[in-house]
Amino acid sequence: MELDNQPGERAADSERFRDRHAPFILGDDPKLLDVFRIIERVADTDCSVLITGESGTGKELVARAVHQASDRRDGPFITVNCAAIPENLLESELFGHTRGAFTGATVARQGKFTAADGGTIFLDEIGELPLGLQAKLLRVVQEKEVSAVGECRSQRVDVRIVVATNRNLEQMVQAGDFREDLYYRVQVVPIELPALRNRRGDIAELARHFVTRTNRRRGRDVEGIEAPALAALEAYEWPGNIRQLENTIERMVLLCSGTVLEVCDLPDKLQQASDAASGRRSSPPTLPQEGIQLRDAVEEFENALILQALERTGWNKNRAAALLHMNRTTLVEKLKKKSLKVRAHAA
Ligand SMILES: Nc1ncnc2c1ncn2[C@@H]1O[C@H](COP(=O)(O)OP(=O)(O)OP(=O)(O)O)[C@@H](O)[C@H]1O
Ligand SMILES: [Mg+2]
Repeated sequence: MELDNQPGERAADSERFRDRHAPFILGDDPKLLDVFRIIERVADTDCSVLITGESGTGKELVARAVHQASDRRDGPFITVNCAAIPENLLESELFGHTRGAFTGATVARQGKFTAADGGTIFLDEIGELPLGLQAKLLRVVQEKEVSAVGECRSQRVDVRIVVATNRNLEQMVQAGDFREDLYYRVQVVPIELPALRNRRGDIAELARHFVTRTNRRRGRDVEGIEAPALAALEAYEWPGNIRQLENTIERMVLLCSGTVLEVCDLPDKLQQASDAASGRRSSPPTLPQEGIQLRDAVEEFENALILQALERTGWNKNRAAALLHMNRTTLVEKLKKKSLKVRAHAA
């Protein structure tokens, strides 16, 4: 999708969208802000939305934001996890069944599609939907009509369909595990959520938010996260993404004995990552045969680290300073001096 206006305007649009429809989705990463703008553009259409992203990247939150931003927001938002329901029950879960439709169906039951009438249905883990049900879902998507198991008539439903998966549907189509026609129908608006390791600049904000939330929920009063511990959180790969960060912080707050979270409160695998990072930091450079201009070498080293910290945090000076274990004023001073120098060189 084309997102064409200027970066400044883009960020302002995204912030407005977040304030109104998705205050629960945190982060300033440009990829996330673009997601807000896509949702805003398509919210009031009835287009199907396909949300992809690794496990724990916020797919369900985004699905809710699509509903909240649409004019269906006062209607129901119904979630069905296609992986959690056994195949033989999934059809009646989605479409309902008549009394006596199968053994054990002693009363008629409404399906989730009917329950979502006037609102949004969120089909999570759509990649797990068996092929037989994919055919039936395609009919619903095309005709906007459902028929309950055991019922020959169909009933119209007015439902917006949002689906999510952490699998590669295109590959599944090629392998014959996902219907191509259904794939094209559901991916009218594709939204891809970035992995947390590709938006490291958001880690500090998310981590602090989870500290505050755990304090509130569990009656704790942890004041914050010590800079080296935060640096380790920011350096870690987070295969489980935001959910893993959330669980890690919750556990740290619960087990922490001091007033702030420290490196020793980190789970073992994060401590190892932190040790590896400081190991890299302390490996000594070699002195060239011909000697070295020490002042220039030190400055080059400092510049490289400052630049990395700024890039990793999306040029947020507060967070970059935290990564460098210095206060913001010192960093700002250094930047001023360096840019003065650059200008002096240029002159
Ligand atoms: N941007 C965000 N800001 C705040 N919390 C977030 C954000 N993204 C995700 N979370 C939190 O992380 C957890 C995982 O999010 P969610 O369940 O939406 O992810 P998911 O992609 O659906 O994961 P899965 O694939 O495992 O189902 C939730 O508790 C959610 O509240
Ligand atoms: Mg989910």
